[in-house]
Amino acid sequence: MALQNIEPLNDQLADIIVRADEPWIETEPGKAWMKVLWTGPETGRWVALFRWKKGYTAAPHKHLSDAHTYVLKGKLKVRDGVLDAGDYDYEPNGVLHGATVALEDSEYLFVCEGPVLFYDENGLTSYLGWEELTRMRDAAKAGRDASLGVRVTARSAV
Ligand SMILES: [Fe+2]
Repeated sequence: MALQNIEPLNDQLADIIVRADEPWIETEPGKAWMKVLWTGPETGRWVALFRWKKGYTAAPHKHLSDAHTYVLKGKLKVRDGVLDAGDYDYEPNGVLHGATVALEDSEYLFVCEGPVLFYDENGLTSYLGWEELTRMRDAAKAGRDASLGVRVTARSAV
């Protein structure tokens, strides 16, 4: 019996490795940083690490896709509860989330299936998806300003 051919037809396939020393993007001076790990142009998915100093508050937002949060370090105040290191949070598509506060210096892994929309009491403030993240990462790697006009306080979600 012949073995099934499992060779990929796409010869462009390759792992994407982000080394530990990849620079963090400072999204709010002295308070918040982000490391873009992966962005997926075909699907709109993206993966990032977030690092917040104690007291940092992320803006209210609406999830335009579902997302997965895993807290690596620290403590995050979310809605009516607290996420501790080791906790996982599934955030469904369409949900509205109020401000999120770092109760301690914190880090979390965020796997997002699409964009996040930020707002304040005056209305929508910014949109964050794989394109914005890719531009920010590329600007940071090139040593340019990575803010790209995106409102700084609106770059983090949980
Ligand atoms: Fe959220």
